[in-house]
Amino acid sequence: MLALVAMNVSCASQKDILNPKKVSNVDLLLSAMTIEEKVGQMTQLNIDVVCEGEVYKLTEPHRLNATKLHQALVDYHVGSILNCGGHAYPREQWHEIIGGIQKVATTETRLKVPILYGIDAIHGANYVTGSTLFPQQLAQAATFNPSLTEEGGRITAYETRAAGIPWNFSPVLDVGRNKNWSRFFETFGEDPYACSVFGSALVRGYQGGNGAAVDNVHVAACMKHFLGYSGTRTGFDRTPAIISDIELREIYRPSFQAAINTGALTVMINSGEINGIPVHADPKILIDLLRTEMGFKGLAVTDWEDIIKLVKNHRVAVDLKEATYLAVMAGIDMCMVPNDYDFTKYLIELVKEGRISVERLNVSVKRILETKEKLGLFQNAMPPSVAAFPKFASEEHKAAALHTAEESITLLGNKNNILPLKKDAKIFVTGPAANSMTLLNGAWTRTWQGTDAQFDDATKNTIYEALLSKNKNVTFNEVCGLETMNKMNGNPLEMAMNADVIVVCVGELPSTELPGNIYDLELPKAQQEYVKMLQSTMKPVVLVLVENRPRIVRDIVDGCSAVVMAYQPGDFGGDALANILYGDVNPSGKLPFTYPKFQVGTSTYDHKFTETFDKDFGNKAFQPQWEFGYGLSYSNVQYENLQVSYESEDMGGEILIRVDVANPSERSVKESVLVFATDEVASITPSVKKLKAFQKIELAPKQKRTVEFSISKEDLKFIGKDAQPIFESGAFQFHVGSLTKRLIIQ
Ligand code: BGC
Repeated sequence: MLALVAMNVSCASQKDILNPKKVSNVDLLLSAMTIEEKVGQMTQLNIDVVCEGEVYKLTEPHRLNATKLHQALVDYHVGSILNCGGHAYPREQWHEIIGGIQKVATTETRLKVPILYGIDAIHGANYVTGSTLFPQQLAQAATFNPSLTEEGGRITAYETRAAGIPWNFSPVLDVGRNKNWSRFFETFGEDPYACSVFGSALVRGYQGGNGAAVDNVHVAACMKHFLGYSGTRTGFDRTPAIISDIELREIYRPSFQAAINTGALTVMINSGEINGIPVHADPKILIDLLRTEMGFKGLAVTDWEDIIKLVKNHRVAVDLKEATYLAVMAGIDMCMVPNDYDFTKYLIELVKEGRISVERLNVSVKRILETKEKLGLFQNAMPPSVAAFPKFASEEHKAAALHTAEESITLLGNKNNILPLKKDAKIFVTGPAANSMTLLNGAWTRTWQGTDAQFDDATKNTIYEALLSKNKNVTFNEVCGLETMNKMNGNPLEMAMNADVIVVCVGELPSTELPGNIYDLELPKAQQEYVKMLQSTMKPVVLVLVENRPRIVRDIVDGCSAVVMAYQPGDFGGDALANILYGDVNPSGKLPFTYPKFQVGTSTYDHKFTETFDKDFGNKAFQPQWEFGYGLSYSNVQYENLQVSYESEDMGGEILIRVDVANPSERSVKESVLVFATDEVASITPSVKKLKAFQKIELAPKQKRTVEFSISKEDLKFIGKDAQPIFESGAFQFHVGSLTKRLIIQ
């Protein structure tokens, strides 16, 4: 063994290399590696491969298998492992698993390189039992308060690191343009600017700085899925996208660029194809765009089985060896294989045959080792003690999750001020989302699809339980499931008839990726029929939506007294909703997407002028149920006195926007002030408006405040004919609330 090392050490002493604590120089380590060791670093395996049992059928309780682990780490030199074996583990079990893996990696392998372990902790450390679960990203965007997302990221990082895991496959920076998409709830909504602001906040929260070094209470972020993954034509997961160069840069690039500028250390590649080329095989996207144009220097990992998919699904390679060649030459650094050693075997062959150079491997391996170094793994890869993380699931963390849920929930209708509910009113709570933690949390909760109720945290409140904790006059019967009415004795409407107000919680079974594909965006018929039955009682009906994506509710909305969008608000969503329904919290969420009214024709708020609804000429385009940015409070906030001015270039070239925001009510309120701009005429057909800035403020009862924004000409640029950002002088309109000002900008 020593002889082997000596053969490969060109510029370092053998002692230095064998003492990983002293190796701070990645180049030194790289220079000592064999081809096999380098390829091993580029290989990422599913935890199942090294556990007792079979892949996807592990023996309970999940534990490592020493022979398989030795084979992976010592024989194949594997550098990274991911996932949990199907469901969450308590911290102690994670410590055993991670500790077992790192022990072999750092004591039994020749160069003692630690493993880079990653999981999808996408709304809290969701694969760690007992962790704090936040609302899903879509709900977080509805807060229009990125500081909450940054704090949520910090807590998620802390609780993930508490399990011994340093790498998080989050945030999703895909822009939610297609409402059918099964991963819509994972996005920060439909607006590229909002996705950029929230995405970078989350990266900052995860990494705790600019990524130069990540301490042992933070994790490496992984921007995903680069890029255009959400832009499929059908909305079915992993189906083709056709995206022009302009749209790619106007819509899909900004959120990734912002995260790169914030220092995001890693990126995961889009499993789909754009314009006929799978992104995993496209050097124009993975090298020219990601590296040269956008300046990303970190590690690029494939998504699950995506080299295999180049053969089986995309059919751009005849076999796995060719697929491996295509992906590596396109620019991937690490392959999430993840269930066998084919990638490893073929990549070694390709290098030995001279088709892929060692220099090419070095580029990727260096990025992988640098990531490990930045995470401090060479200093200490072992999991911490439970005692070292006293704030895990602490009251402070829970309060942050509750607060985020409270600021996300969006009031969409409130006829005759039926809300807030009177504290002593008789309430009947019903519907499939009324008493379910599963529906509140959504996918990626303790399991991948998040649907196994045995992992729900029984100490947390469902909507019914939370309402009951505030008012003993609350009764519950589900009556209607997700797809069908429940079999019941007696009249299902009897309880409804005895109540003063009906709160009906409709929704959708959590799902993501391919299992989340749907053929119909309408809320399932049974639920709609049930809401209509409830409306026939003539009692006020409060409709609560708990959804993966905006399901069409056109036919039932008008008959409801109030409508509340809860999104998937997480473990504290029931409490947050109860606080809002009873008026202990004033709602302040706003829709981060356009809520569709029809299956066809409802696009995004930043659509083109040709898509506007125009009844004079019968143009029945864009007609949403609720607009992007829509959301009410109990305070009837007023906007007045919008002023917009432009300082000429020599004065700084800033556009200053001021508006007075008033709270006429007797309760304090939070208000997200959104600034949109319209470019009246441009060489690329302009959007009717685009979000340019936002700020969430708090107003005391009867308080009026002047809110100021400063944006630059840079912010008014668009992607021109040559796919580069340009500014064209002319008339712009600025919109805040229902106020508009026009300005000529040279
Ligand atoms: C998903 C990714 C995820 C990965 C690892 C894939 O199927 O598309 O978002 O990070 O699995 O769990």
